[in-house]
Amino acid sequence: MPQPAHVYLLPAFIDPIALQGGVAVVIDILRASTTVVHALAEGATAVMPFESVEDARAAAAALPPGSALLGGERGGERIEGFDLGNSPLEYTPDVVSGKTVVFTTTNGTRALQQCRPAARVLIGAFVNRDALLRVLQSDGRPVHLVCAGTDGHLTGEDILFAGEIAASLEPAEPDVQTQLAIDYWQARSADPAVFQGTIRSSRGGQNLLRLGMSADIDRAAECDLFDLVPEWDAQANQIVATSVRDVV
Ligand code: MLT
Repeated sequence: MPQPAHVYLLPAFIDPIALQGGVAVVIDILRASTTVVHALAEGATAVMPFESVEDARAAAAALPPGSALLGGERGGERIEGFDLGNSPLEYTPDVVSGKTVVFTTTNGTRALQQCRPAARVLIGAFVNRDALLRVLQSDGRPVHLVCAGTDGHLTGEDILFAGEIAASLEPAEPDVQTQLAIDYWQARSADPAVFQGTIRSSRGGQNLLRLGMSADIDRAAECDLFDLVPEWDAQANQIVATSVRDVV
C-alpha cells in the first residue's frame, strides 16, 4: 500500500515543520548508521549520541565506572582516548555486550539531532533494511528519509539507500528529491558491480578507501544482516533496539 515518503538529500534540506508527526530515518551508510546497528545487534544496551567530542567524554565520565565505551571518529579515525572508532567490525559481542556506547561522529550524530521534530526517529542501513521497512510499513505514518551526507556534500551511498526505501514505500506523488533518489537507486542497483562501484566511488567511500578501510565499505553494503531497528529516545538521549519480532 502506498505510504507518504520524502527523501532529504542532505540534512540542510529538512523542513522541520514537515517532520512533525512523521517518522524520520537517519541514513549514514558509511558508517554511523551501519555502526549503530552493529553495536545494538552485538549486545550494547544503548548508544548515546553526541555532536561534540567534549560532550561525549563528559557523558561517559558521568556513567557508572566500567559501564560505558566511547566510540566514534573525527576525520574517519578513532578519537584520541576513545575505546572504539567508527568501524562496524570493531563492535563485536565480546567488546560491546552489556555496555552503553557513548558515540560521536562527524555527520551521522549531527543529522540525528536535526530529526528531533519528528514523532519517531529510526536509524536505517543496508544491514537492517528489511527490518526497517517492516517497522515503517507497520507504523504507517509519513516517512522522512534523511541522508547524512559527507561534510555537507551529497554522498551516493546514502541516496542509494534512501531511494530503495522510498521506492519500496511507493509514495503517491514523489517530490523532486524523492524521485531523484528513486531514479538513482533504480539506475545503480540492478547490476551488483555498478552498485558496489557507486558506493566505493562515493565521497564517503573515497574517504574510507584513503584510510585503508575498504572492509567497512564491504560490510556496509551487505543487506539484511540484522533483524532490529535502532530507535532514538530524544528525551533520554538513548538509541535502543526496537524489536521487529512483533511487527507484521
Ligand atoms: C560520519 O558520521 O561522519 C561518518 O560515519 C564518517 C565515517 O565514516 O566514519
